[in-house]
Amino acid sequence: MGPSISRITVTGGGPLNGIVPVGGAKNSVLKLMAATLLAEGTYHLDNVPRITDVDLMSDLLRATGCQVWFDEHRLTIDVPAVIEPIAPYEIVEQFRASIVVMGPMLARCGEAQVAMPGGDDFGPRPIDMHVRGLQELGAEFETSHGYLKVRADRLVGTTVVLEFPSVGATENLLMAAVLASGTTIIENAAREPEIVDLCEMLNTMGAKIRGSGSPTIAIDGVAELHAADHRVIPDRIEAATYLCAVGIAGGEITVGGARHEHMAMLCQKLGETGMRISHDPNGIWAMAPGRLRAVDCQSLPYPGIATDFKPFVVSLLATSIGVGIVTENLFSGRFRYVDELRRMGADISTDSHHAVIRGVPQLSGAPVRAHDIRAGAALVIAGLAADGETVVSDAEHVARGYEDLAGKLNGIGASVVVS
Ligand code: EPU
Repeated sequence: MGPSISRITVTGGGPLNGIVPVGGAKNSVLKLMAATLLAEGTYHLDNVPRITDVDLMSDLLRATGCQVWFDEHRLTIDVPAVIEPIAPYEIVEQFRASIVVMGPMLARCGEAQVAMPGGDDFGPRPIDMHVRGLQELGAEFETSHGYLKVRADRLVGTTVVLEFPSVGATENLLMAAVLASGTTIIENAAREPEIVDLCEMLNTMGAKIRGSGSPTIAIDGVAELHAADHRVIPDRIEAATYLCAVGIAGGEITVGGARHEHMAMLCQKLGETGMRISHDPNGIWAMAPGRLRAVDCQSLPYPGIATDFKPFVVSLLATSIGVGIVTENLFSGRFRYVDELRRMGADISTDSHHAVIRGVPQLSGAPVRAHDIRAGAALVIAGLAADGETVVSDAEHVARGYEDLAGKLNGIGASVVVS
């Protein structure tokens, strides 16, 4: 685990310049770690970020009987012949992604007990689609004492139509269906790059999955899987943080290792603000020539602009020229950080799904609070060009999803201190 932090202090200053490397994707590696529960053996995951959520998922795997250890950015996981299919409350309440152990535990053991999930504080985040999908494969659920208990003597492939392309529900279904008998079709499946990454690792483990990255995924169940090695894709949300940072502070940077094809809509939108963006095999180059033009944008499932990018876009629009409207289509209550931006002088009005941002010439540094990972990072980058010091408290949220955000920003000329 990295050093514990509770505050990030940003001193506004000049433009950013240089190369900032992007790490492995949090929202991929957590699911790849869950996938290891499907088969006994030793797994090596490379390009794993040193972040708190990975430590929590490691603890969850250990609670089932696995051994897990880090060597730089390589995570080794030893999965025993028999696992304990229980995800305890003490761990699950700390991060919502833990719900994805349910599918693999059920597939491997015929049962699982998972505490009801906690996670980010942005509105209700139900798991009804996970439950309904697994029920259609033959699982039976009961809830008692805060735990969701699920069992299935046999999972049988069928067609599951998701009401919404939920990332987590698609992942839980995939990891249950790989060991089911017969073929499972997931219709209206999530198409995020992290889903494709998970399917690639599952196929390396011996699964038979077709169509990942499209709305229809077909899974032919197999009798058994085996351990495998895998390299985690780059974190497109971390990359988006740096692209918006240079939009706010000005300058010219290369986000090393970022994949343009994973964030093409965001790059297009940033281009409309006046930023210049191009890409090559080494990453994404971005330049901000001065104050940007306001744009409208809305969050949508992939390949739309991710809900996780949106707080960074709002920070960027806070000092752009004109009025931008940002619409949140996925999570209600994901505008709480806007109150914090207002404390820095931003002119933003919101209802539960929209933010209307009237750009001001400059923000002024202020004490603010991080309510979740992305909100925290959005406040840090807002502080990059603010007048004076911005002190972001509750910054441990940021460490859940970013490895050394301060060090990476300082590497391109920012002034950021953690304490
Ligand atoms: N939903 C339901 N029922 C369900 C599942 C989802 O109503 O059974 C709703 C949710 O309430 C939400 C929408 O569907 O309104 C989308 O939820 P989804 O299941 O797609 O999200 P998730 O799997 O819980 C992942 C990421 C989030 C990211 C979302 C959307 C991980 C660990 N988390 O969450 O990332 O915002 O997809 O892309 O992969 C973050 O990294 O900071 C983060 C929150």
